[in-house]
Amino acid sequence: MIVRLACCVFVLCAAAVARAGESAPYRPLSHRNDLWCGSTYWTGPDWTPVDATPAALRRGPSAIDAGALGGRPFSYVEVVQPVLDKHCLRCHGGEKIEANVDLSGKPEGGFTRSYLSLCRDKKLVPRFEMRNQIQVTRPGGTFGARGSRLMSLLRGGHEGVELSAAELGRLGAWIDLNAIFYGVYSPEAQARQLQGKTLPMPEIQ
Ligand code: HEC
Repeated sequence: MIVRLACCVFVLCAAAVARAGESAPYRPLSHRNDLWCGSTYWTGPDWTPVDATPAALRRGPSAIDAGALGGRPFSYVEVVQPVLDKHCLRCHGGEKIEANVDLSGKPEGGFTRSYLSLCRDKKLVPRFEMRNQIQVTRPGGTFGARGSRLMSLLRGGHEGVELSAAELGRLGAWIDLNAIFYGVYSPEAQARQLQGKTLPMPEIQ
């Protein structure tokens, strides 16, 4: 009861302040339904000057953009492997396999060698392993792409390898997606993704 009363007193004060502000060069006050007192009241001055139209209203709505990857189901072979093929294979998977890190796209056990190499170390590519569990994201940038040793290695100029922002973005997006391999569920669709084939989004989501 006391809380309700305090709420209503606050609302009345807010209304008085709001009315006092009506002469100031601010846009008209906005209404809001008060869930506690069940009445409609003035929320107070909106601090946007009258002649400033919010940026979002100064143009029409944006068309939905599928993005550089075309909005298809995610596929490690499609998104990540080309970056590794272009920049890493000469030292990690061709004749040489530096640091025992094989980054070739050869299929192995339903994945690729590169995927198994990168994911075997939880600090290199942090990810949650269990599905359907309560997962707590650790604070402080220790998780996801920000907490990944792979990203800091590559951003720090590993062996003179230079990745474009788009290529780094592919690796970062992959890790932030919990470093998944497949973006589809059915065995047939997964077999196609493993072969590097692209799949459209299902008609019904
Ligand atoms: C010119 C050769 C060369 C190229 C190109 C190269 N690497 Fe390396 N990489 C090395 C060498 C040498 C080591 C071992 C020494 C070290 O750890 O820096 C290494 C080590 C690594 C490691 C293990 C380090 C760790 O901290 O676990 C990873 C992961 C790695 N490379 C990823 C990559 C990726 C991804 C690319 C491509 C984007 C790449 N490398 C390109 C030479 C190369």
